[in-house]
Amino acid sequence: MKETREKKYSNFESNLKLKTQILKLLKEKNAVLLAHYYQIPEIQDIADYIGDSLGLAQNAEKTNADIIVFAGVNFMAETAKILNPKTKVILPDLEAGCSLADSCPVEDFRKFKKKYPDHIVISYINCSAAIKTMSDVICTSGNAVQIVESFPKEQKIIFAPDKNLGGYINMVTERNMKLWNGKCDVHDILTTEAIINLKIENPDAKLIAHPECKAPVLELADFVGSTTAMLKYTIKDNAEKYIVATETGILHQMRKDSPKKEFIIVPTDETCSCNDCTYMKMNTMEKLYLCLKNEQPEIVLSYEVIEKAKKPILRMLEISKKLNLIK
Ligand code: 13P
Ligand code: SF4
Repeated sequence: MKETREKKYSNFESNLKLKTQILKLLKEKNAVLLAHYYQIPEIQDIADYIGDSLGLAQNAEKTNADIIVFAGVNFMAETAKILNPKTKVILPDLEAGCSLADSCPVEDFRKFKKKYPDHIVISYINCSAAIKTMSDVICTSGNAVQIVESFPKEQKIIFAPDKNLGGYINMVTERNMKLWNGKCDVHDILTTEAIINLKIENPDAKLIAHPECKAPVLELADFVGSTTAMLKYTIKDNAEKYIVATETGILHQMRKDSPKKEFIIVPTDETCSCNDCTYMKMNTMEKLYLCLKNEQPEIVLSYEVIEKAKKPILRMLEISKKLNLIK
């Protein structure tokens, strides 16, 4: 017990020191820290901007900073580099990947695409830069329904890589998009059993879910949306308790924004309520400090990949602006 408390105290002290040093370096180097809601609270609290994939992409595009420090995962930092190629983009840990992006290997996807030559490709932003170069338009969970609906009903569409998000959009928009069979290991593991048990224990709680969850989970939800959409919902809605079907990182902002409300994360199994994304949690304060100090690891992409991948991402941002989804 004593040891744990001492350990916590020393973490707190060293994080405080690191925080001061990180903030100093950010200023000295004219760097901007962009962080996803799934980052550890210490990183979220010092970020210049914190948001979901859509907000982060938009901020990466418009920043005038000399360096973007991306506290998120690889595909997010790649997107930042594609949108702002003149700016140096660094990521605290280059190994911070994404199980969903990994579930769509380029050569397999090329074969899949060939089977449907009359289809356009809408890809979820959680994919590699190479998959983006093979796409007509990108979407995020914050605009996926609207991006699909911006095409006529007769338009034939391949949706990649998330089968759960794709299935959800098919249901909402009454389409029949061909779905790539990919999934996020964090969201796909959440079960209706765990949710029903929580609902029995907390009959007054509302269920909010990320669209990367399986269809039966989404069917039970009172609200389905991106990380930012879920956060906004809990601020505006008048319930006092929420069962949250997504990654644990978002609870930090939910509790900060609505301190009187209760948030219960859906557990991954009976003994654990720790559905953390291992990739997102690879970024620590220490790695963040070192990456800023040494200006590496850096995201490097070829000119060709940047030019090809930029088109579908810019198309997404244009559609989102037109529809007032972003300013
Ligand atoms: P958001 O679009 O909500 O940021 O989702 C990103 C993500 O990786 C969810 O797993
Ligand atoms: Fe990828 Fe899932 Fe982690 Fe999001 S939560 S970064 S989709 S592995």
